[in-house]
Amino acid sequence: MTKITAAITAVGGYVPQFVLTNKMLEEMVDTNDEWITTRTGIKERRVLKKEEGEGSSYLAIQAAKQILEKKDLDPTEIDLVIVATATPDSMVASTAAFVASQIGAVNAFAYDLLAACSSFLFGMSNAASYIESGRYKKVLLIGADKMSSIIDYTDRTTCIIFGDGAGAVLFEPNEEGFGLQDEYLRSDGSGRQFLGMEGGGSLMPATEQTVKDRKHFIFQDGKTVFKFAVSNMADVAERIMKRNDLTDKDVSWLVPHQANKRIIDATANRMGLDHAKVLMNIQRYGNTTSATLPLLLSDYEDQLKKGDNLVFAAFGGGFTWGSIYLKWAY
Ligand code: UT7
Repeated sequence: MTKITAAITAVGGYVPQFVLTNKMLEEMVDTNDEWITTRTGIKERRVLKKEEGEGSSYLAIQAAKQILEKKDLDPTEIDLVIVATATPDSMVASTAAFVASQIGAVNAFAYDLLAACSSFLFGMSNAASYIESGRYKKVLLIGADKMSSIIDYTDRTTCIIFGDGAGAVLFEPNEEGFGLQDEYLRSDGSGRQFLGMEGGGSLMPATEQTVKDRKHFIFQDGKTVFKFAVSNMADVAERIMKRNDLTDKDVSWLVPHQANKRIIDATANRMGLDHAKVLMNIQRYGNTTSATLPLLLSDYEDQLKKGDNLVFAAFGGGFTWGSIYLKWAY
């Protein structure tokens, strides 16, 4: 019997209309374009304003609809919708269930997946496993985050970094060997003190005091996270290459989480990769958390060719991190 692999057969991406530039941030906090550009590589990011739409679900729905249109896909054929997100519409009720209903995926089951900036990467593993099991034929994986909903725009250490966006991919069975080949996924819970949001969860439910203390905004010890991110992202990408006998020549593209251009460069250097093979859009969107990887696929879709070897790598809060090797199917 032919082995079933899980291939990406379509991509979609969406960013909101409002552009928040470094210049605008100069008016809001004590920062400057030169600092932001040299330390992070970011020039601008997008923010979802109320007039356009609300919640991460809005972004997710736009990205998903692109796939339905591009593939002329009947949404009732979708078996499963996973929404990878660190900013669900609300606690408890599944954002993915709402998204599935809104796009007409009425026969699908749906759930959210939360692993901070690694959510989409871990979601790829989930989606592929369902397909490989043979029990499901169409899995829609969406990465969506409205980071502006948890950003303190008076805190210069975080507000310059994050942006809003969404990207989506469709996973389907493949019998020619294309799709997900290998994965190496990791986590280390001792890292949660360095990046996260303290308020609003079961450890620290919302009170008047938590609001006053600005506990419902994301915090990060940037320097520490940077050190972990640089070494771990490079380690896992290198490991995936070695384990699959891939040289730098064999790797067509690195698809790295867009947290900081310096982290991306360090990962590419460790892989010995020509920087022309590195997908990058951090300059335009900043760090969109769960949306960075699918937004890259969406932006670069025209340049990806059937058979290309893609190495994905991400690092995020928790800590969570990992790398995936995937053969492009179209
Ligand atoms: O996606 C999830 C994973 N997240 C990451 O991977 C993020 C990892 N961390 C980073 O990308 C970087 O650490 C940052 C971009 C957040 C910060 O860059 P850094 O080179 O680590 O800067 P730093 O925090 O060491 O700060 C250097 C200086 C400090 O001033 P002093 O102490 O040297 O006087 C900061 O107060 O820069 C100051 N600073 C700023 N200056 C202008 C911090 N933020 C800003 C700012 N504008 N926005």
